[in-house]
Amino acid sequence: METLGEPTSEEVMYRVFAAEYLGAEGDLQGAVGEYLEAAIESDDPAIARRATRVAFAAEAWQEAVMAADRWALIEPDNVAAHESAAAAMLQVADYLGAEYHIMRILDLMEDEIVNNGPVVGALEAARMAMDNPNFYKVTLKNFATPWTNRDQDVFVPLNDYSATVIGMVRDNVPFTELLSADLVYVADPVLGLSPYSTTDNVHYRQLEDGNYSLKDHLVATTQSSVSGLPPAATAGVMTSRAAAAEFFVAGTNRAMFRFTLMNHMCNDMEQMLDTKLPPDWIRQDVSRSPGGDSRLFLNNCVGCHTGMDPMAQAFAYYDYNVDTGSIEYTEGTVQPKYFNNDLNFPQGFRTPNDDWENYWRIGQNRHLGWDPALPGRGQGAKSMGQELANSQAFAQCQVKKVFRTVCLREPEDQTDRDEVNTIVGTFTGTGYRMKQVFADTAAYCMGQ
Ligand code: HEC
Repeated sequence: METLGEPTSEEVMYRVFAAEYLGAEGDLQGAVGEYLEAAIESDDPAIARRATRVAFAAEAWQEAVMAADRWALIEPDNVAAHESAAAAMLQVADYLGAEYHIMRILDLMEDEIVNNGPVVGALEAARMAMDNPNFYKVTLKNFATPWTNRDQDVFVPLNDYSATVIGMVRDNVPFTELLSADLVYVADPVLGLSPYSTTDNVHYRQLEDGNYSLKDHLVATTQSSVSGLPPAATAGVMTSRAAAAEFFVAGTNRAMFRFTLMNHMCNDMEQMLDTKLPPDWIRQDVSRSPGGDSRLFLNNCVGCHTGMDPMAQAFAYYDYNVDTGSIEYTEGTVQPKYFNNDLNFPQGFRTPNDDWENYWRIGQNRHLGWDPALPGRGQGAKSMGQELANSQAFAQCQVKKVFRTVCLREPEDQTDRDEVNTIVGTFTGTGYRMKQVFADTAAYCMGQ
């Protein structure tokens, strides 16, 4: 039990003892009530803090709101008090209340910047913020979740894709491994949740619904050991179960490529449109005279499919099986979906294996900054993931996304763009650590 300051009256003392007794007896709800009464009657911040913690532990959010609000009132300069109040208010959808406390935190951080000089103070404040479990449970979860589904919905449950992003950021895993590593983050086995399953998301739902700290309870393991994929067939989050369910399901596996490009290169296919490259690798399903007009093929279809089809071939052995609910990998055998509508243009490209090639290394899409140390071609998803993640566009995209998350706006003027470039430089020059990006970005935006 935490040591408390002197209770201010007998009544308060009685309630504190009653609360501790009830808590020890396992009656958390009773303890919450007694502590809340004590907190309201007393001016002692320690009692309000304890009341807040007990209410959080009991997930009694209404009481948590009142206790934390009281704590923040007694100790207006305490960041933890405002953080607790904001977190509890978000739980009961009191967004205005939460916003007030978040503004107070920002004010306090700004004070710290003024007192300690801009850079050190801001970085220190950012470091403190990243130490808070809510950085993982809220900020990073909201950061990664839209990438894991077609609708870019931020409210879908935690899954093996988002958990892996959160773990990689926490552990400073070089982010260039995001699309190629044999890596997945799972819940610490000590929590006793149902183990990782290749056929459902129960493991991650339990981790989220149990309200466990993702900062403390995510552990890294190899994807191959839990998913049954051969190690060479793992490709980071692209071969997560969540990504497979959304982007390998049905279709032609081009969706996995398109969404990876959108989420991690910050470009959708329209922006990649280049009609000047050779169309020799375009699959049979793309008609060469759509609607009887070959000009449409040459002026439009070619623009995307020339570059996309040879890249999406890296996924030739993958599928998502809706009946079993799991990712499927048929080493050496191209999935039937690659031959969908092969009569649309039988002379078109017929996929023989999982070779891929990056046509965008020439032409206008050179500007994405492909890594000259890589060959630009290969076999399978892993090497294709490395091709994407080692580009300048990938690094810039990660920084831009962090900027949006932390600064709550796009980079706007030249000063912003210069800062983004500086942060990209640090990111690529010092081991691709995302926490550094969050810290540098927060320091920049807080100083404004
Ligand atoms: C802006 C880029 C772009 C252009 C231009 C484009 N496509 Fe596509 N195409 C895609 C993407 C991305 C997919 C994958 C869609 C998905 O599965 O989510 C796709 C998928 C397809 C498919 C497979 C559909 C399926 O069953 O899943 C066919 C066939 C196709 N395109 C034909 C064409 C034709 C014909 C044209 C020209 C009239 C064309 N495309 C122009 C990007 C493009």
